[in-house]
Amino acid sequence: MWDLEALKSEYKKHVPEVLFEHNLRVTKLAGELAEKFGADRDRAEVAGLVHDIAFPRDEELVPLAEQYGVRITPVERNAPILLHGPVGAHLITKFLGLSDEDICEAVRWHTTGRENASELEKIVFLADKMDVTSDDDGHLSEIKEALEESLDKAVLVCVNQIIPYQLQQGFALHPDLVAMRNEIILKSKVK
Ligand SMILES: [Fe+2]
Ligand SMILES: [Fe+2]
Repeated sequence: MWDLEALKSEYKKHVPEVLFEHNLRVTKLAGELAEKFGADRDRAEVAGLVHDIAFPRDEELVPLAEQYGVRITPVERNAPILLHGPVGAHLITKFLGLSDEDICEAVRWHTTGRENASELEKIVFLADKMDVTSDDDGHLSEIKEALEESLDKAVLVCVNQIIPYQLQQGFALHPDLVAMRNEIILKSKVK
């Protein structure tokens, strides 16, 4: 459906080498997770590859968000880098011709997640976080163990690792991250 190798060559022009390497690892991991959970592997790989297209444009994120009509919450005003997902969802269409809605949404929500995230969104969220999670304190192993139970469980474990770090750093918590965590917890309680 998409020529992944051609897309890699094109995408490479938009990001620095170190980011591209991360994106290649996320491509692979997202593909593996899609395979494991019966999601669309092609879409997972494409979204995994291009999710950080807006990351290097940190100075331009607020104006680009305004231009594209992206919602800017107070948390994002305070930390504009959080806008690289939502802005990226527009840039992949503009620069790479990708207009598949599921892929755009996975790019849009890859940093914060959201309530009622799709399976593909969760896969890209998780693959991205797993690639930058160290196993020094057993965090990566904890996520991998949870993956044996379910995708939701792994996302929950991952968010439960992110939140204490953000509290410790004194960062504001993104409402969509909290909403995703609440939804997964409440859903499992209702069952
Ligand atoms: Fe990112
Ligand atoms: Fe990333």
